Amino acid sequence: MKFELEYAYWASVAGGLLKPKVPVIQYVPRHRQLPSRTLPVVSAWKGIESILADILERFQIGTERCLEFGVEFGYSTVALSSYFDSVTGVDLFYGDKHTTDKRDLFHETSSQLSAYENIKLVRSDYRDWIRKDDGPYDMIHVDIVHTYADTFACGLWSAMHSKCTLFHDTESFPAVKLAVKEISRQTGKKFYNFEESNGLAILV
Ligand SMILES: C[S@@+](CC[C@H](N)C(=O)[O-])C[C@H]1O[C@@H](n2cnc3c(N)ncnc32)[C@H](O)[C@@H]1O
Repeated sequence: MKFELEYAYWASVAGGLLKPKVPVIQYVPRHRQLPSRTLPVVSAWKGIESILADILERFQIGTERCLEFGVEFGYSTVALSSYFDSVTGVDLFYGDKHTTDKRDLFHETSSQLSAYENIKLVRSDYRDWIRKDDGPYDMIHVDIVHTYADTFACGLWSAMHSKCTLFHDTESFPAVKLAVKEISRQTGKKFYNFEESNGLAILV
């Protein structure tokens, strides 16, 4: 678990003491199923791919449009592309303070994913992207730098522009879990948490 000195995180911890508690519902998959596509690359996301079908069925999510913030080598992008007509992956492709590989990955990842015609990759900061996109999406996956401020800003927009929003790393980064709690509070959406594979929030 990674705690950091981030003002927005500790301000939210303090502010949360005075607000009603947000229930976090444990997500227990009814079945697991490997998607038709998986990519043989390193990823902390491994394991999540086997519950995507369960999430889509359980919450009756459409399968037309999916948006992802945080692609890196494309593991989650390819898994998601097994289920959606189109997946747009938005990433700076320079890594961030929480990733180990800080190389420019745009060409390498684009080339690896070029075989999948329903995936479109865009090099962009999420802040620029959300200024010009009106959505809506069936699902948005948020897996960018794991600060409270960025997860909250990107996640609140995502929750308002999708039926179902996923957030990776709720168990390994307390800042991600706290940001999702605050988004759940502000949007009235339910917060389910899958505890395996570093944690996945499902906001519906
Ligand atoms: C944890 S990795 C994504 C892992 C990926 N989802 C997987 O399946 O393994 C986080 C990614 O977020 C990207 N990122 C960080 N801050 C960003 C920002 N402000 N806008 C867009 N992408 C960002 C980084 O470049 C990095 O590739």
